[in-house]
Amino acid sequence: MIVDGRRINSCLTLAVMHEGDAITTIEGLGEPGNLHPIQAAFIKHDGFQCGYCTPGQICSSLAVIEEINANIPSHVTKNLTDQVAITAAEIRERMSGNLCRCGAYSNILDAISDVAGVKA
Ligand code: FES
Repeated sequence: MIVDGRRINSCLTLAVMHEGDAITTIEGLGEPGNLHPIQAAFIKHDGFQCGYCTPGQICSSLAVIEEINANIPSHVTKNLTDQVAITAAEIRERMSGNLCRCGAYSNILDAISDVAGVKA
């Protein structure tokens, strides 16, 4: 989920720790018939199988794109003086904490790349 613009693991925090915070979950992004572009991209690219990990993958995906656009470096950012580029390596590194037991990683990368406007 996204708390005050930052992605966090919902299973590792307590609701009482976030009183007054702006919290976005998958339910806050879109709805049937009016999906958020990242939700539509996950469908378009088959970015899921069982769907268990999908809410977290989608929320994290949005935050990853915003982190890169905000020029926040990651462990794979080579040049810390230039604007961070949205690359497959950056997306993979930043999404590495979201596990998918079904192994839909390549399609998840395609979905994120599509929304970010880059080629995976
Ligand atoms: S789609 Fe099944 S765990 Fe990711």
